[in-house]
Amino acid sequence: MSSQNNQSAIGEAKAKQEHHNLAIEIRIHDDAYYKQDAPIVEDAKYDALRKRLLALEAEFPALATKDSPSQNVGIKPSGKFGKITHNVPMLSLDNAFDDGDVRDFAARVRRFLRMGEGEALSFTAEPKIDGLSASIRYENGALVSAATRGDGRIGEDITANIRTLKNVPHKLAGSNWPDVVEIRGEVYIDDADFATMNAAQEHAGKEPYKNPRNAAAGSLRQIDPSVTASRPLKFYAYAWGEVSAPLSDTQMGAVDNLNAWGFSTNDLMKICATASDMIAHYKMIEAGRSTLGYDIDGVVYKVNDLALQERLGFVSRAPRWAIAHKFPAEKATTLIEDIDVQVGRTGALTPVARLKPVTVGGVVVSNATLHNEDEIKRLDVRVGDTVEIQRAGDVIPQVLRVLDADRAGRSEEFTLPKSCPICGAGAVRDIDDKGNMDVVRRCTNGLQCPAQAIESLRHFVSRRAYDIDGMGAKQIEAFYQKELMLEPAHIFTLEARNDDIKLKTWDGWGEQSASNLFAAINARRNIEFHRFLYGFGIRHVGHGNANLIAKHYLSFDKFLQLMTSEDQDAARADLLAIDGIGEASASALLGFFHTPQNMVVVDELLAQVNVIDAEAPNADSPVTGKTVVFTGKLELMSRDEAKAKAQSLGAKVSGSVSAKTDYLVAGPGAGSKLKKAEGLGVKVLSEAEWLELIG
Ligand code: IVH
Repeated sequence: MSSQNNQSAIGEAKAKQEHHNLAIEIRIHDDAYYKQDAPIVEDAKYDALRKRLLALEAEFPALATKDSPSQNVGIKPSGKFGKITHNVPMLSLDNAFDDGDVRDFAARVRRFLRMGEGEALSFTAEPKIDGLSASIRYENGALVSAATRGDGRIGEDITANIRTLKNVPHKLAGSNWPDVVEIRGEVYIDDADFATMNAAQEHAGKEPYKNPRNAAAGSLRQIDPSVTASRPLKFYAYAWGEVSAPLSDTQMGAVDNLNAWGFSTNDLMKICATASDMIAHYKMIEAGRSTLGYDIDGVVYKVNDLALQERLGFVSRAPRWAIAHKFPAEKATTLIEDIDVQVGRTGALTPVARLKPVTVGGVVVSNATLHNEDEIKRLDVRVGDTVEIQRAGDVIPQVLRVLDADRAGRSEEFTLPKSCPICGAGAVRDIDDKGNMDVVRRCTNGLQCPAQAIESLRHFVSRRAYDIDGMGAKQIEAFYQKELMLEPAHIFTLEARNDDIKLKTWDGWGEQSASNLFAAINARRNIEFHRFLYGFGIRHVGHGNANLIAKHYLSFDKFLQLMTSEDQDAARADLLAIDGIGEASASALLGFFHTPQNMVVVDELLAQVNVIDAEAPNADSPVTGKTVVFTGKLELMSRDEAKAKAQSLGAKVSGSVSAKTDYLVAGPGAGSKLKKAEGLGVKVLSEAEWLELIG
């Protein structure tokens, strides 16, 4: 499109006409591409049409109506996901954590194959992409279906969503592909796209995604494929499932074929003759990790000869011919530029190190938590120090140690203020009945402290509580600062006050976003017991405990009667009789419901919402009354899902292994809990065995 064709030079009426024509043309191409599988134009032409449409809308925002192609890609929702059975199961990989594990793996393979040291045995080594696996089936060269891994045997039908990925061919290129071939690989989002996507997410008042993997998961499992199409998902092919003819004699040869048929494959895949070669390639990939532009969490080694893979076969859920060599937590060195103090929902003062930005494992880190004043003392960390920091997975970066502690002229020791940096009220460290001092210093001003009030409201709308879309940190702060929303119940009266508030006229809001917000709020007027309770953010009452309480009392009214009864000792005993509820939670609950200001908050909220009773747990499941502990990485479901499922079947989920534990469900990476369970003779199950047990 020529830059001479300047939108500002054309009048609104003309722009409207051009926009209308473009919209029709784009719709036709969307339909051809996504639904008919038969694109009419080159990608570049299509991109130019969309670019022009967006330029017109930037100039004349009124053109961006909700049915403009800029707002959706015009693909009808597919409804709920169907199920697809994997004829060849989708397995997972065992892990190696150090060089010794890699050498053991190579030796194990040789032993199994009865191969002497002198006999040649080669492996492939390639990055382990941190995304989600998918299996895409082609019949006679045409994409016919696609599925998630699911439980490894049955996945969800994500055909419509996978079709929207730009680097997944709808028809196989080249020739010599088998009539039936299932291509497997990883769906992911690269770092640059992730940054753009999260900026848009925050702009829309939604919680940003924690990492590219979560963003990819959320994007892939969209019921509406037009949403998936608007997300920057990509696919790396590295494996296959059912095939009507072999792909090659070797892993490398097969992957070369996948590439020739139109798939992106990873250039860093290499053939290695020995364990030392594998380790050297691992080190090379690890050294370049931060410059790759996408997240990886290790290197996968596979026996290259496919006939040998066949002989080696599988043990339970993982092949004997492959292993994932995981990266350790990433470390880096940087400077502490400042130390700030944040005030959290419970008033906790948390010192946060502001760092000179540094890339750690592909992510730019500029903050690290210093936890509390004891930790600052232990590290003797001061502004101006050079420190070693660590980032592991999803957790907040940590400061490990000061590197120049001996240097003369270090700045003064850092001490936490004795008053709240936000509201100025006293900040103290509690002392418990036994005379132990809490490690955390807290602001004593409760919800009168703006920081605590805002954080409480953020907690209230968060995913595990009321989960209100469109109400992010930015929006809450704006409503709070204008004194329109000082406590939870005010969220539910916003719409009724909107004649005065006129939300649609605010900066960043419009007619549509305002009405979306009110719809999201109204959808939560019927709220489950556990969400209702968790939403108050009572100390020691996390979503797990809120769930236990809801499952125990079933009705919130009944629970409230007990909490507010005169006989606090009886109420405490009742709470403590619930498996999993301890002294700290019981005291916090009673303390909360016996504080008059809190009861005002509860009553006002009850005037706005209806609390839905919890369902009674299934009394005759095979795990009713059993105690189960989950450890290691769960691969078939999230930890939350696993816990909720177990609890709904009447099992008690515990965090630690003891003689009372009935089952330990151990995923990859299980460590001390697994050892302890084995020592105690506790029954250990894989995730798949657990799923089988609970049916
Ligand atoms: S091979 C039968 N190669 O890692 C083994 N997996 O922890 C098939 N993954 O479920 C897997 N990159 O989702 C393989 N280059 C790669 C991989 C890879 C990422 C994922 C995959 C798998 C998981 C196992």
